[in-house]
Amino acid sequence: MHQPLDRLELPTPDDLHLHLRDEAMLRAVLPWTARQFGRGLVMPNLPVPVTSTTAAAAYRERILAALPPGLDFEPLMTLYLTDETTAEEIRRAKASGFVHAAKLYPAGVTTHSAAGVTGLERVYDALDGLQDTGLILSVHGEVADPQVDIFDREAVFLERHLAPLLERFAGLRVVLEHVTTAEGVAFVRANRGRVAATFTPQHLLLNRNHLLVGGLHPHHYCLPVLKREDHRLALLQAATSGEGCFFAGTDSAPHGRDAKESACGCAGCFSAPTALELYAEAFDEAGALDQLPTFLAGHGARFYGLKPTTGTVTLVRERWEGPVCAPVEGQKPVIPFRAGEPLSWRALPRSSPPGFGE
Ligand code: DOR
Ligand code: ZN
Repeated sequence: MHQPLDRLELPTPDDLHLHLRDEAMLRAVLPWTARQFGRGLVMPNLPVPVTSTTAAAAYRERILAALPPGLDFEPLMTLYLTDETTAEEIRRAKASGFVHAAKLYPAGVTTHSAAGVTGLERVYDALDGLQDTGLILSVHGEVADPQVDIFDREAVFLERHLAPLLERFAGLRVVLEHVTTAEGVAFVRANRGRVAATFTPQHLLLNRNHLLVGGLHPHHYCLPVLKREDHRLALLQAATSGEGCFFAGTDSAPHGRDAKESACGCAGCFSAPTALELYAEAFDEAGALDQLPTFLAGHGARFYGLKPTTGTVTLVRERWEGPVCAPVEGQKPVIPFRAGEPLSWRALPRSSPPGFGE
């Protein structure tokens, strides 16, 4: 009999899609990520979006200042593309050494995307800059068109916008963030080398029934919205395939409990406290734990041209229940994704300041 693996040592992972927010929320959520990941690609959708290299430098300093002693974590910064972003700004970003991507939010598509791009032709100058410098275009790949059904918005974006964009900018390198559909993984495969995709834990583990059956589950609501089971299976197959164009990006996106459990709840799953456990569970389901190390630490770094991380993290097979709540100073707490539900893996913290996470 083949013995199931019950302990895994991985190179320190990279979270290549992450929302850290600012101020009290930043101080509350950053330690959760930093105890599992060595680096994170930090999304720029703050209420005042991070649209310049100067703003990214200041945000980076605030993140480093919020890091508890004893935890090392490298924030990899991104710029928020607007209709006004210039190629010159992109060149400044590249020269900084700490900005690694520019994020395209089609205006109106998700949280704090109102200042996003209203037409791709408006960002051709910035895309020229990305193509010339080799900085990555990170894409929220959904249309905001009210005529398009929410479950079709990713597939329509690929066909209507991303395919023509890749033709026009032959040297552009793109990450399709939080891919959610079979069409998405097929698109990445067809363009491999210049297009890659990140996968969230929730899209690998859940389908839309988990959002809508037996009551509405607000903590499973994120954008792009969860899809049908056949899409989940296509994602799981791709993520565990060992192909270098597929890697981890949690899209951990904290909102206070009141903002999630509301008549008009915000989109976002706060997966940071148990991100590694959740990915391990998905890979275990697919019988592909051997592919977990390169998915979490390897493929993404290579696509972004980052040097490998140092150190390791350890996962052990253990039944436990993740934290039920993450306190935020002066605000309602954040409820982690799958709070209080049984988990089958446990990540040993990279290092932990005294009293943290108890
Ligand atoms: O669910 C999401 N939450 N999707 C996004 O694209 C944005 C994110 C957020 O910032 O809350
Ligand atoms: Zn995101």
